[in-house]
Amino acid sequence: RSEKIWLILSFGMILIFMGATGYQAFTYGMAPPGGMERIDPQKVDETPPFDQPGIRQIGENEYEVVMVLQVFSFVPHDIEIPAGSTVHFKLTSKDVIHGFQIVETNANGMVVPGYVTTLTQTFHEPGEYLLMCNEYCGAGHQHMYTTITVK
Ligand code: CUA
Repeated sequence: RSEKIWLILSFGMILIFMGATGYQAFTYGMAPPGGMERIDPQKVDETPPFDQPGIRQIGENEYEVVMVLQVFSFVPHDIEIPAGSTVHFKLTSKDVIHGFQIVETNANGMVVPGYVTTLTQTFHEPGEYLLMCNEYCGAGHQHMYTTITVK
């Protein structure tokens, strides 16, 4: 008889675990990384600031980079910034989920269509930084990278 109770208990635990992971997946799907600004992925080209992707200086040693990701490119690419700059990245995707990782820095984010991802990174050391997509996004995923030149 006690075997039966244990069987029911362990079955109940499994159901609870399944429910919990399902719930997490559900809430994640409904609202990706909390409190993100929304954007219509069909109208990226017309929606400021993404109607003018690029780099602009917003303070002493401070820059904003507005960047659009799509299979399999970063626009703009081959960015140049002075060493010691703090860069605020504003990112969105026109199509699928992409990753945004600047190798050898802490800058790492997911770029989800319909949302604006913001990341801030200070570049102390001059050099060429590899910027790559680290989310599988299709057959050309491994070609989706560019460099950020700090000098
Ligand atoms: Cu974009 Cu992988």
